[in-house]
Amino acid sequence: MWWILKGHLEAKGNQLYIGGFSAAALAKQYGTPLFVYNGNRILDNFNRIKDAFAAAGAAPRIHFAMKACPHLEVLRLLQREGALIDAVSPNEVRIALRAGFSKEKILFTGTSISSSELSEIAEPGVAINIDSFSQMRRLHALGFRGKCSIRWNPGMGAGGHSHTITAGKFIKFGVPEQKVEQAFEEAKNLGLNVVGLHQHIGSGWTGKDVDVFLETVGKTIAVAKKAEEILGGKLQFVDFGGGPGIRYRKDQAEFPLQRYAKGIVEKMRASGLKAEIAIEPGRYIVGDSAMLLCEINTVEEKNIPIIGVNAGFNDLIRPAFYGSYHEMVVCENVNGLRTGDFMVAGDLCESGDVLNENRETLRELPVPEEGNTLAILNAGAYGFSMASNYNSRCLPACVMVLNGKTRLIRERQSLEDILRNEK
Ligand SMILES: Cc1ncc(COP(=O)(O)O)c(C=O)c1O
Repeated sequence: MWWILKGHLEAKGNQLYIGGFSAAALAKQYGTPLFVYNGNRILDNFNRIKDAFAAAGAAPRIHFAMKACPHLEVLRLLQREGALIDAVSPNEVRIALRAGFSKEKILFTGTSISSSELSEIAEPGVAINIDSFSQMRRLHALGFRGKCSIRWNPGMGAGGHSHTITAGKFIKFGVPEQKVEQAFEEAKNLGLNVVGLHQHIGSGWTGKDVDVFLETVGKTIAVAKKAEEILGGKLQFVDFGGGPGIRYRKDQAEFPLQRYAKGIVEKMRASGLKAEIAIEPGRYIVGDSAMLLCEINTVEEKNIPIIGVNAGFNDLIRPAFYGSYHEMVVCENVNGLRTGDFMVAGDLCESGDVLNENRETLRELPVPEEGNTLAILNAGAYGFSMASNYNSRCLPACVMVLNGKTRLIRERQSLEDILRNEK
């Protein structure tokens, strides 16, 4: 079992454990569907990034991309560890402030943001990463005096799925290559306080994407130098965005963090730029920290063998939306031989609601018993944060395991919560 990791995910007496707790027992105690996060794994992942940069001789600003997992308790944990925040909506800014991040630690990166939202963000005084000329002009018209940076599109991207590639031609984000100098010139003429340059080329990279990424780092550094010339002053930071992936399947290698960190640091050093390095990892920090637990309620031969569970793409949309693979484990029979091939079917009224990577690739699992608990691993990033109320189902409860204790960090939604805004 390639995913076993001492202290995080373990098999003891044929049962699955997370952070020292039986997954099946947590499912019984808190009910299902349930996200279980291991806070210690989140901290380890964060510190591994820090260490990789320290080994290369740098201490970057690490902005946690909270869109990956915006629970207050996760944010507080990372805030205490020294993280900063990448926020993409006014509510994310507010949530980060409530979690204890000071406004100086938050960078807002928004796309197609309305002027009323811009003024909401400008009010607490967080730095704003400008996505377009329109946004720049509207910020100026609002009298924005805070710090800002410019997001550019370096013309090439990388990611685990076409939806998660965020640079290149048919991409809505950032100022395009041929207009980036003009953007700095205009920002200067408008009197905006531009202190940074930003890129984010995509999400969910594997090792081979690092080469493309490092090429864009070189291009961004060249733009940063040009920007300093135009502005007639030094940039405070160059932000290289997020993207480092995690190991979702057995045949995938660990992300080459050292090569990534060393590549950025060496290129920055060689450039002579004095700006701080900033990065915005989301998935790498939280992705493998959590599992989604659900109850196996149906084991039946239809046209194909089916395992029916009480979770669906309302809880974890990645398989249905991106064709993503998530490892699955029958919590009460971890070591069982995988003698069955199943469609793992969710409880939504949609044929596409399967938790396999696609409907026609059945999943080898030990034949479970109805009433067993299924763990869907690597569900910490873009899991709960993309969950919905589709089919009027309630958002799941969330638990955190930390230092040998478990704690409910988010209550299961109720019908009353769903109906609250209905008239
Ligand atoms: C601007 C920005 N920064 C950072 C991230 C985080 O990406 P990841 O979770 O792949 O590290 C994203 C996600 O797409 C993003 O849009």
